[in-house]
Amino acid sequence: MFHPFQVERYLSQREQTAKFHFAESGVHPLTLTELIDIAEVDMDRLGSVLLDYPEVNGLPELRSHIASMYPGAEAGDVLVTVGASEANHVIASTLLEPGDEVVAMTPTYQQLPGNARNAGVNVLTVPLVEDDDWALDLEALELTVTSRTKIIALVNPNNPTGHILTGNERAAIIAAAERSGAWIVSDEVYAGTEHHTDDQTASFWGEYEKVIAVNSTSKAYGLPGLRLGWLVAPDDVYEALWRRHEYATISAGTIDMHLATAALSPHVRPKLTARARGLIRTGFDTLTQGLAVHPGVFSVVPPEASAMSFVKFDLPLTSLDLADELLRDEGVLVIPGSCFGMEDHFRFSSALPDPYLRDGLERLNRISERHLAGNH
Ligand SMILES: Cc1ncc(COP(=O)(O)O)c(C=O)c1O
Repeated sequence: MFHPFQVERYLSQREQTAKFHFAESGVHPLTLTELIDIAEVDMDRLGSVLLDYPEVNGLPELRSHIASMYPGAEAGDVLVTVGASEANHVIASTLLEPGDEVVAMTPTYQQLPGNARNAGVNVLTVPLVEDDDWALDLEALELTVTSRTKIIALVNPNNPTGHILTGNERAAIIAAAERSGAWIVSDEVYAGTEHHTDDQTASFWGEYEKVIAVNSTSKAYGLPGLRLGWLVAPDDVYEALWRRHEYATISAGTIDMHLATAALSPHVRPKLTARARGLIRTGFDTLTQGLAVHPGVFSVVPPEASAMSFVKFDLPLTSLDLADELLRDEGVLVIPGSCFGMEDHFRFSSALPDPYLRDGLERLNRISERHLAGNH
């Protein structure tokens, strides 16, 4: 049975028509001109790039910029992919066989677990507990990871909650992986989007031998349109992943790789993450004010990272009905919690220009007023 990608399906069927788009998972993207300015791209050099197939595993300079972000990694450990999406897909198709088990957090971005399900793999979940500030349930982790577990799939920082795994949680995950022999696949696209620190969330790479780290330019760098991601993997699986990548896409785009090389160079990368963090931090304050207008209706555990908040609501309708009503009557797009398997929630992205955000929040409050007054 095919399991559609709930979040992406919800988005792709609606995002082109929404007037107020709060369903995005990244910060407001850069324009091409902005990137060229910030990264001081040499336009003559870019103009002379031959639009041929590039190195299939990624341009060497790009791979070495990426490798420098991971302790002990070399360019030869990095495979450049079409977004983190392709990386997750290739990992699932390389490591998993029907009947295997994957353990994922819940709620989570469905990419790796969904690919696993579609490959006939049994996906077990370990909750992030909202009442405990989205802490990972360590007892459930202990019980769920067994010798049958092939992959422990992490999204750290997490989508949709913004939770960053604590030192204790990281240690428990590594201990569980060591005990069971499982791979840790760590999707780290939100590293660099922290709210309270300028220290980037550390990768799992280097903390245990069977780690594959996944990342992309889409979130912390504000460049989702480049469709440029990567994975970092140990030698014993790197070649096998590369073989799958040849089937999936052959390679990422030549121009995308050149622009990503500029964006991820050591002097440009911090400018892009600083921009993302600035947008994220101001946007969350505005969101908190907007959600406080009707006391008791909305609550949110402040996300520790990412542009999004997973907002809980107390209104007499399902998350899908609320999201559909917001879109139909106010042109406001959010992701219903049901796409993450959790009712009474929606995911709301606030790293957006202030007047736009305030306008959208007023619209959200108009819909809640309507339900509070019973006029719907
Ligand atoms: C956790 C996570 N991983 C991967 C992706 C896909 O990213 P990309 O644009 O790099 O394919 C997303 C996009 O929302 C995401 O939230």
